[in-house]
Amino acid sequence: MNVKIVNQPLGQINADLSVEFVTPAQLATHPHTALLKQAGFKADLEQLCALHEHRLLVCGIDNNASDELYRSAMAAAIRSAMNYGYGTLKLAQYTQKSFKALIEGVLLGSYRFEAYKSEPKPSSLTEVIFSNENHDGSGNAIDELEAILKQTTIIAKATNFVRTLVNQTPDDMTPQQMAITADILAKNNNLECTILDVNGLEDEKMFAMLSVGRGSAHPPRLIHLAYKPENPKRVITLVGKGLTYDSGGLSLKAATSMVTMKMDKAGGCAVMGIIKAVSELNLDIEVHAFVGAVENMISGNAYKPDDVLRAKNGKTIEVRNTDAEGRLVLADVLGYAQEYVKADYLFDYATLTGACMVALGPYTTGVMGHNESLKQEWLSAADASGEYCGILPFNRHLKKLIKSDLADVCNVSSKPYGGAITAALFLDNFINEDMKEKWVHFDIAGSAYTESAWDVHTYGGTGAGVRMTLNWLMEQCK
Ligand code: BES
Ligand code: ZN
Ligand code: ZN
Repeated sequence: MNVKIVNQPLGQINADLSVEFVTPAQLATHPHTALLKQAGFKADLEQLCALHEHRLLVCGIDNNASDELYRSAMAAAIRSAMNYGYGTLKLAQYTQKSFKALIEGVLLGSYRFEAYKSEPKPSSLTEVIFSNENHDGSGNAIDELEAILKQTTIIAKATNFVRTLVNQTPDDMTPQQMAITADILAKNNNLECTILDVNGLEDEKMFAMLSVGRGSAHPPRLIHLAYKPENPKRVITLVGKGLTYDSGGLSLKAATSMVTMKMDKAGGCAVMGIIKAVSELNLDIEVHAFVGAVENMISGNAYKPDDVLRAKNGKTIEVRNTDAEGRLVLADVLGYAQEYVKADYLFDYATLTGACMVALGPYTTGVMGHNESLKQEWLSAADASGEYCGILPFNRHLKKLIKSDLADVCNVSSKPYGGAITAALFLDNFINEDMKEKWVHFDIAGSAYTESAWDVHTYGGTGAGVRMTLNWLMEQCK
């Protein structure tokens, strides 16, 4: 979808269809009140009514609606508009703040993934034109709107890039294919790219990650992408869990729980999308994105419950459940990332635990770490960007639940509660002392994938982590 902003009143713009947001309070004085009422339109939130004879699509919105509601309503409107035969659509401004939300509604809401359809149904709608005129007739400075459009488009497209990576099947998006994708991204966006194969992982003594991948026909890859501007304000390391498939391994998942586990690479995909946007926005921050791309499968050669693994930092791990594999991969990738990059902050993104969804619901990312004010910053960044985050607090008692009688630490908790936090406390074993206060872990198990549409999301990957991280990074540049 092409989105542009023009310095023209709405009435003078040529387009096939107009979208208009109407509140219940405005309904009575609308030029088409009678027609709308006849059609049963009450201006309920996201209620749509197409008056084709007037080339108008009306969408209900709350009085004093927040950005979040505008974003979601715009997504509903664009999806509906895509089903007609129109080619272009036009819109006015509904306060400058909601402009960003409306662009996101258009670009994220119009996303479709049809790569696996034998007959994809492309929409005839290809362009959305915004006027700089407000809905009430007043004007706006075009330059500021143009800057918002440029920035928001880069971030929304990076989010959609992540959704497409996540949506690909495990046989298409193998660890090797993830590495190829990273390499192409690096060439297109002028990033540095280093890939480690099995030999490289062995040289680095990354035996936790290697063990998880051992049962698979698709060998693991470690991906390191770097964006290095001159004189950066900060150096940030991002680490992503890239399980291209999680069958559970020998602790095999139940048949119904295994479906959707192609999404277990969403953290790795997110950090690739983030660094893509960072480079396109030319941010003054050095960013390193590390992905542990691995497939967790069964075979005669697979790693087992009862194995003891030695991670890169020398710590030993008792494996009691091969389905708690993400933390094993992250243990090594976190170790590698900290050895090769001295960063100001270290953030990891992982579809790590079903327990996070139990705790926070299926829409919210779990935020964990030792630094209280840093976690609060992330709640604000999430809020400002249209993502949901909630803090899950550490305590010293939960830490005892992953003690091992045999090795330094156990990969699962001895109690069935607080699983998202005990997983994060496991990762804490692989965070160096000097990075403890600089580290935040994001559990995106719930937020990264959806099987039913909500907000701007349709079926599939959501790109969780991308928008909030770019918001946080851009705040650092101010
Ligand atoms: N990838 C899963 C977590 C997950 C579950 C993500 C559902 C998205 C949706 C992870 O590797 C896993 O299997 N975790 C186990 C941990 C348990 C064995 C301690 C879980 O959550 O059940
Ligand atoms: Zn698992
Ligand atoms: Zn997993």
